[in-house]
Amino acid sequence: MKQRLLFLGPPGAGKGTQAQRLAAERGLLHLSTGDLLRAEVQAGSELGREAEAVMARGELVSDDLVLAIVRSRLEGHQGGWLLDGFPRNPAQAEALDALLSELDQAIELVVLLDLDDTVLIQRLLGRGRTDDNEEVIRHRLSVYHGQTAPLIAHYRSRGQLAAVDGAGSVEEISSRIAAVLDS
Ligand code: AP5
Ligand code: MG
Repeated sequence: MKQRLLFLGPPGAGKGTQAQRLAAERGLLHLSTGDLLRAEVQAGSELGREAEAVMARGELVSDDLVLAIVRSRLEGHQGGWLLDGFPRNPAQAEALDALLSELDQAIELVVLLDLDDTVLIQRLLGRGRTDDNEEVIRHRLSVYHGQTAPLIAHYRSRGQLAAVDGAGSVEEISSRIAAVLDS
């Protein structure tokens, strides 16, 4: 069973929803950099204070900050993991490769959850997180298309990418993901 996974996809594609279910089912460590950053903001830590305004604008927090968070969670962890929302640009992908080679581990599969922008916007407006207003959602989407989407070709060229249709019910999408993981 593949157990070192990345979940890639635009904001609102269902990465968090699916990652949480899969991690619980298969006993994987679920690392969502967005959730971890929101926890820092909530705690009022120095890191959280640095990240808060950037997140509210829908821009990417600095690579160094995010990488430090991922490193601290992966170092010393035994067993599988699922990274959700990281890496988010080519520099983060490169830093992750370096970290994983240091830990003598490798990505086994990158799951791309794909969905139309119009559906994404509707889903996010329905949720209402502090960064879920129309203007910021559009900015998050443009950051995704400009900075994160190039990772699709990168992982595809390494033969690591599996694209999954992100439309449909939560259960339907879970079954599609299970199918690519077990194939
Ligand atoms: P992050 O928290 O990663 O947000 P995001 O990528 O914008 O994505 P979301 O979490 O909004 O969507 P999701 O794909 O997880 O979907 P979800 O399951 O929640 O990042 C937030 C910010 O943090 C960034 O803008 C940046 O500032 C910073 N950040 C994070 N990582 C970073 C990094 N690596 N580098 C730099 N900065 C970083 O679902 C969305 C909604 O749809 C929910 O309401 C859900 O209930 C609903 N839903 C899910 N599935 C379905 C379905 N099948 N049908 C109907 N509704 C559904
Ligand atoms: Mg999420």
